[in-house]
Amino acid sequence: MFRIIVYIAFILSVLSAAAYAGFTCAKPPSNNQYYLTDFCGSTSACGQVPSCSGTHYFTADAQRFGCSKYLNLCNSSKKCVKAQIYDSGPAMWVEQDAGRAIIDASPTICQLLSGHSSCGWSDKISITATLTSALDGRPLGPFNVTNEEYEDMLVTHEILLEQCEADGVCKVQE
Ligand SMILES: *[C@@H]1O[C@H](CO)[C@@H](O)[C@H](O)[C@H]1NC(C)=O
Ligand SMILES: *[C@@H]1O[C@H](CO)[C@@H](O)[C@H](O)[C@H]1NC(C)=O
Repeated sequence: MFRIIVYIAFILSVLSAAAYAGFTCAKPPSNNQYYLTDFCGSTSACGQVPSCSGTHYFTADAQRFGCSKYLNLCNSSKKCVKAQIYDSGPAMWVEQDAGRAIIDASPTICQLLSGHSSCGWSDKISITATLTSALDGRPLGPFNVTNEEYEDMLVTHEILLEQCEADGVCKVQE
C-alpha cells in the first residue's frame, strides 16, 4: 500500500512539473548568460506597471526568479543596471528559437546596456543576470563594477538562487 502511495505521489509530481513546462519555468543558465530584449506595457503578471514612458528599471523573467526580486544585469564592458522583476516572460518558445535564455527588460535598460533604442533577440545582445537583494546598498539603476565587485555579485547570486529554489518560486508563479 505504501509503495502505491509513493508511486502515485511520484506520478503527480511528474504531471505537475509537465504542466509548468508549457511556460518558461526554466532554471537560470549556470553561466548566467542571456540575450537582452525589451518590453513595456500597461499590465503585468506581478501587478506593477511596466511603463513605456520615462526612466524605469524593470524586467520580466518572474517565472525564473519570482515577482519583485532584484537582478543585476551587466554587459561585457561591466556596465551594470540593478532592476526589479515586474512581469513574467518571455514564452519558452522564444527562448527555444533564440537558442539562449532571455532577459526581457525595460527600454531604459536596453538603451543603457546596448546603446540601442530597441533590443530584439535576433540582435543577440549578450548580458549576464545575477540575483541581488533590495539591501545590497545600491539603488535601482546603472552602476559600474570592478572585477572584484563582479565576483562578489556571483557569490551573492549563488546564495540567493539556493533560497529561491528552496522557496519553489516557479510553483508560486503559475
Ligand atoms: C555596455 O554599456 C555601455 C554603456 O552603457 C556601452 O558604452 C558599451 O558599449 C556596452 N558594451 C557592449 C559590449 O555593448
Ligand atoms: C561608469 O564609468 C564611466 C567612466 O568609466 C562614467 O562615465 C560613468 O558615469 C559611470 N557610470 C556610473 C553609473 O557611475
